[in-house]
Amino acid sequence: MEFSIKNGNPEKQRLGCVVVGVFNYRKLSAAAEAIDEVSEGYLSGLLRRGDMDGKLGSTLLLHHVPNTLCDRVLLVGCGKERDFHEREYRQAVSASIKALNNTGTSDAASFLAELTVKRRELSWCVEQLVEIAAEESYRFSHPDCKKEESVPSLKKLVVNVPQRNHLAIGEAALKKAQAIANGVRWARELGNLPGNICTPTYLAEQAHELAKHYELKIEVLERADMEVLGMGSLLSVAKGSRQPPKFIVLQHSKGKSTQKPVVLIGKGITFDAGGISIKPAAEMDEMKFDMCGAASVLGTMKAVAELQLAINLVVIVPTCENLPDGDANKPGDVVTSMSGQTIEVLNTDAEGRLILCDAMTYAERFEPEVVVDIATLTGACVIALGHHASGLFSNNDSLARALVNAGEESSDRAWHMPMWEDYQEQLKSNFADMANIGGRAGGSITAACFLSRYAKKYDWAHLDIAGTAWKSGKEKGATGRPVPLLTHFLLQQASKKA
Ligand code: BES
Ligand code: MN
Ligand code: ZN
Repeated sequence: MEFSIKNGNPEKQRLGCVVVGVFNYRKLSAAAEAIDEVSEGYLSGLLRRGDMDGKLGSTLLLHHVPNTLCDRVLLVGCGKERDFHEREYRQAVSASIKALNNTGTSDAASFLAELTVKRRELSWCVEQLVEIAAEESYRFSHPDCKKEESVPSLKKLVVNVPQRNHLAIGEAALKKAQAIANGVRWARELGNLPGNICTPTYLAEQAHELAKHYELKIEVLERADMEVLGMGSLLSVAKGSRQPPKFIVLQHSKGKSTQKPVVLIGKGITFDAGGISIKPAAEMDEMKFDMCGAASVLGTMKAVAELQLAINLVVIVPTCENLPDGDANKPGDVVTSMSGQTIEVLNTDAEGRLILCDAMTYAERFEPEVVVDIATLTGACVIALGHHASGLFSNNDSLARALVNAGEESSDRAWHMPMWEDYQEQLKSNFADMANIGGRAGGSITAACFLSRYAKKYDWAHLDIAGTAWKSGKEKGATGRPVPLLTHFLLQQASKKA
């Protein structure tokens, strides 16, 4: 979709549709007021007769409104004006895009970004509008899976800002939003692909294309390279599969050469059947999404590269399948990680931490400023937080705060979870330095505790995205989260360094 920023009058738009807000109860926004005036009370008349009362998320499509130059006017219910917070704004915007995509119009001008949202500024409104519009207009399609059927009609969206001197703010927000939207879109695309297409080899090919397009440095380690490095933990997961594992390393170096890099590590299990500790059949298909951490760090790299952010960023993707096989990990097997620490694999389905720990040790060579890993790590995290927030764990409170803030800023929230030493005890093993599971109690916390043992040399945070990376049910599909959070975090890092 194409976006542009303009400052104009709602009644003078020569476009397929103009989108304006209406508050509950029957209160016109400034843009709606302007249309009402030129049309000699057409809108207020409709409201008075009860066609629309401004209920949040409702829409009313009007044709040939007198004295306007556009084909249609879309009224969007925004709820009570004094309760108009970010959630309500997002809901109204989302409803407006859904409605536009049903009208058949290919272009529109939205005046929703000029509405006053409690505690949020214009740049936030513009960014959200663009990201939501892009999100609502995405459809999965692939020649070998599902051919494009009903493509959304909307192709061009003009985002109106209230004053001429707001144009620069709008443009800057638009640029940021488009980079994020493109990163999200790619992350969704990779996430949605089935396991027989999106293999570790496929992810490596995609990473190569990204590197070529943005002139990034790339290295992909093969099984033999990983053997030399002693990545016994990662390789123990990979050996139950016919698909060769890959270890992808991408580098964007636009910061000062003396500046230590941020390292992002994404879990890239392209299918997680559980291994010998096999998962139940119901919903096992959703374990194709077990590479959404990988997709999110690749999507973030795309956004960062597109924005040419002045930072040094390293993205690492350890990727393989987790399947049952005669050669697969068995419960009770003991493996040696790259760090030298040994692990008793009590449950082969706790494989994410087994591949991440070796990537975390590998990350040491970059002498990172911070390391953040992103993983669909535990079902327990979904029980704890549901589908609204990602679980956040860290060995550094100010890093955790920065990530929470980035999540708030981008409406891609994370919630700081505890990781006290007391939990470490649950990982004791009689046969190795640690077990790979810590029992049912606090499952997302003990998973983070396991990872923390590989983060002794740097500041580190872990995002458990098991509940946020994809949706189940009728709207099944990858969300692209937490690309917005990560990109905002990196934008903030870049401005700190500037
Ligand atoms: N990829 C799963 C986590 C997962 C499960 C995410 C369901 C979203 C929905 C992970 O590899 C896994 O299987 N974790 C186990 C850990 C357990 C064996 C300690 C889990 O959560 O059940
Ligand atoms: Mn698993
Ligand atoms: Zn998994």
